Amino acid sequence: MTQIFRTVAELRANGARWRGQGERIALVPTMGALHAGHLSLVQAAREQRCARVVVSIFVNPTQFAANEDFGAYPRTFDADLEKLASVGVDACFAPTPDEMYPSGFCTKIIPGGPALAGLEDRFRPEHFAGVAQVVTKLLNAAQADCACFGEKDYQQLAVIRQMAGDLDIPTEIHGVPILREADGLALSSRNVYLSADERKRAALLSQVLRDTAERLRAGGEVAAVCAEASRRIAEGGFAVDYFEARHAATLAPLATLAEGPARLLVAARLGKTRLIDNCAI
Ligand code: PAF
Repeated sequence: MTQIFRTVAELRANGARWRGQGERIALVPTMGALHAGHLSLVQAAREQRCARVVVSIFVNPTQFAANEDFGAYPRTFDADLEKLASVGVDACFAPTPDEMYPSGFCTKIIPGGPALAGLEDRFRPEHFAGVAQVVTKLLNAAQADCACFGEKDYQQLAVIRQMAGDLDIPTEIHGVPILREADGLALSSRNVYLSADERKRAALLSQVLRDTAERLRAGGEVAAVCAEASRRIAEGGFAVDYFEARHAATLAPLATLAEGPARLLVAARLGKTRLIDNCAI
């Protein structure tokens, strides 16, 4: 059975007990609405020799702008707990907003580097400060040996790696590959927002990513090939926010693939739903 902890004090006391038994602990931070992608993070955590896995479920208000979907974000706690129990997760940390941000809370974290890459931050200017704030609190609360994050939110992962290194946070940060539907659509809690017609069209994003990576590997010119990819996605009915090739670690813009390991990143809106995806080149 998955134990539920509502307070940092309970989570810490339990973690101390596990550590006392010599067990390594992993944290998998989530906002709930769990799907197979989240469960693959649990699996990845076990592969890091962690006998104990804690999944946190907290829809963090500070990473949503006023015009975003905080209120509408899917909340499926009972179904989430069943999924966690089905894969043998030991503990779920599900704090209230007051536990995380009690009255008087006022500390902010301002991430730099990859948080200012001009990708998600251009469209969600406050987002990574909220992510950095809550992830720091979750890592401190859990005091885990390792924490697993999906590569689906690739810029988020880069921001968290940078922050953990800069602030000497001792938890090892692991990135876990994207899980996809049969037609290539990256698993996301926000896919439930897609209508049946949009869901069919959504697969185009990953197809174009794959084709573009191939064209670039074959020697295509970065700016021209990415511009062509944006056009294809727009023709498929999306409003494209960006489609870019970036350095895989720093997220700095790349003019050629010779400038380092590269990653393609895309964000585009289909109706009211904003989808993001990425792949290695
Ligand atoms: O990726 C997410 O679900 C969230 O941004 C995270 C890392 C759990 C922080 O709220």
